[in-house]
Amino acid sequence: MAGAIRQETEGTETAAKLALVTHTIRVLPDGFLIEAEDGQTIMDAAHDAGYYWPTTCGGQGICTSCTCVVEEGVANLDTAGRSEHRTLAEERGEAALRSGRLRLACQARVHGDIVVTKRGVRRE
Ligand code: FES
Repeated sequence: MAGAIRQETEGTETAAKLALVTHTIRVLPDGFLIEAEDGQTIMDAAHDAGYYWPTTCGGQGICTSCTCVVEEGVANLDTAGRSEHRTLAEERGEAALRSGRLRLACQARVHGDIVVTKRGVRRE
């Protein structure tokens, strides 16, 4: 009986691990590797992993201090919302947004592996 309970517990743990899909964020130029849960913002993943990510507004999507350039995996991020697009356009200009590679790290949600460039990211 105890063996059956243990086996059931192990099965539950395995299912929980499978449900927690993680992705990798490589941050250039330093090459930090950060693990992100599916749907987590880039900045939240960095904070959870113990990294400082530049911000002035604390992740409210209004300061653009967190802006990063997506080098690889643009399709692995959710689409920028109207608010993010407006904030970036006001600060960087519409032309800077045409490539789709400029994102606010506090708003962009990760759904696959990505590589970004962001200066100022460091271990907290
Ligand atoms: S932290 Fe201010 S816009 Fe992202």
